[in-house]
Amino acid sequence: MAKSTTLFVCQECGTSHKKWSGQCSGCNAWDTIVEEQSAGFSSLSMKKTGNKIEFVPLSGEAKQVERNSTSINELDRVLGGGLVGGSAILIGGDPGIGKSTLVLQTVSSLAFSGMKTAYVSGEESIEQVRLRAKRLGLNNAPVNLMSATNVKDIITSINSIDKPDVVVIDSIQTMFVEEISSAPGTVSQVRSSAHELISFAKKKNITMLIVGHVTKEGQIAGPKVLEHMVDTVLYFEGERGHQFRILRAIKNRFGAANEIGVFEMREKGLAEVPNPSALFLSSIGGKVSGSTIFAGMEGTRPVLLEIQALVASTPVPTPRRAVVGWDSNRLAMIIAVLQTRYGLFLADKEVYLNVAGGLKINEPAADLAVATALISSSVNMPLPQECVIYGELGLSGEVRMVGQNDIRLKESQKLGFSSAIVPAGVKKQNNSFILQEIRHIRELANLFKKEQQIA
Ligand code: TYD
Ligand code: MG
Repeated sequence: MAKSTTLFVCQECGTSHKKWSGQCSGCNAWDTIVEEQSAGFSSLSMKKTGNKIEFVPLSGEAKQVERNSTSINELDRVLGGGLVGGSAILIGGDPGIGKSTLVLQTVSSLAFSGMKTAYVSGEESIEQVRLRAKRLGLNNAPVNLMSATNVKDIITSINSIDKPDVVVIDSIQTMFVEEISSAPGTVSQVRSSAHELISFAKKKNITMLIVGHVTKEGQIAGPKVLEHMVDTVLYFEGERGHQFRILRAIKNRFGAANEIGVFEMREKGLAEVPNPSALFLSSIGGKVSGSTIFAGMEGTRPVLLEIQALVASTPVPTPRRAVVGWDSNRLAMIIAVLQTRYGLFLADKEVYLNVAGGLKINEPAADLAVATALISSSVNMPLPQECVIYGELGLSGEVRMVGQNDIRLKESQKLGFSSAIVPAGVKKQNNSFILQEIRHIRELANLFKKEQQIA
């Protein structure tokens, strides 16, 4: 048994320190360091030499992964075609976003299709889970339910029933192993609990769905510390005020990362949104000043989004810049490029940027749509014609080509648009769709000259 020592561990990034301090030197977060006892793992061997393991050629036969459809298409899509048997999947997200609802709907659906399932809730009592199931109309689902937090008990109990195919742990921050004295939710507890549960599941070929809360500050460890231990990491995102929820694959050993699934939180649980491309467009999109339509991609899916900018004068020496749904550093860059390469001075203006509908965009392809929205708002003129926009901006003001042009344009046409502002070099689809090529940001000025229409 290894000696137990006291360590100070950052709950945000997992860095351990010898002494307590206010700020973590690993991730610069404040007030996230908590004292923890690091007990040696009972499995930690003190042998001097290891066992010999045979090498095999890389070119050997690989076993095909077996996938089980969850019957929830949006989830299957994010997983890369269904649940892989024996895999460990982490579902992270803010508290209250709908993780428990999603996993309960998933196990119930799997149970109805004949798989053996178990749901371990560490947060809610049996009654609470039953009430939720009733509300979702799933109270007849043949799911084994347990309310427990001790990992050893959970493993023994799973061993005592007919081996389940899928087990849900909701949430990992409530689980604990007795050997470690720190509180549930600390990095060492979260890591050890996950380690025990995942190794048990791998040994028994059980698919493990692990729920993890994302935390803004300290006290309980975020799912980041687990990302490397699991096969798939999914994040459930959304703005609280909006009913739409995006399930995003951040890491996937069995499929493409960055794929999204779209859900709507309804009275009776999560409903799939199979065709989300028009979801984030408002009826006034593109028709008022400061509003542009961005033809974006989320994984393999085209999504049309409305980008709204508001530029307002202010007497304050340090004007506000507020962003919802986009990266604030990227906005700062666009503002700098607009100033230096286009001649639009926003230094004495407040700038608000909003991606309508509550979706977060990560694509640099949105640069041109953001820049156009900012110009449109500062000159207080809408675009002369309803159109979609995309393209990446470089620091010298040049507009760069982006990928998947065909899909973006096809989707725009499908949704009733007939023109697009694009980087130079995009292949024309057909004659009825007008492409306006932009090589440099200064060419955007042509759009806002009075009486001028898109060619
Ligand atoms: P929940 O799944 O408990 O979130 P998490 O496990 O991520 O903390 O979902 C909580 C929210 O979802 C709660 O605020 C109520 C809402 N909700 C609905 O709107 N409809 C429903 O059918 C259910 C079950 C929850
Ligand atoms: Mg929950």
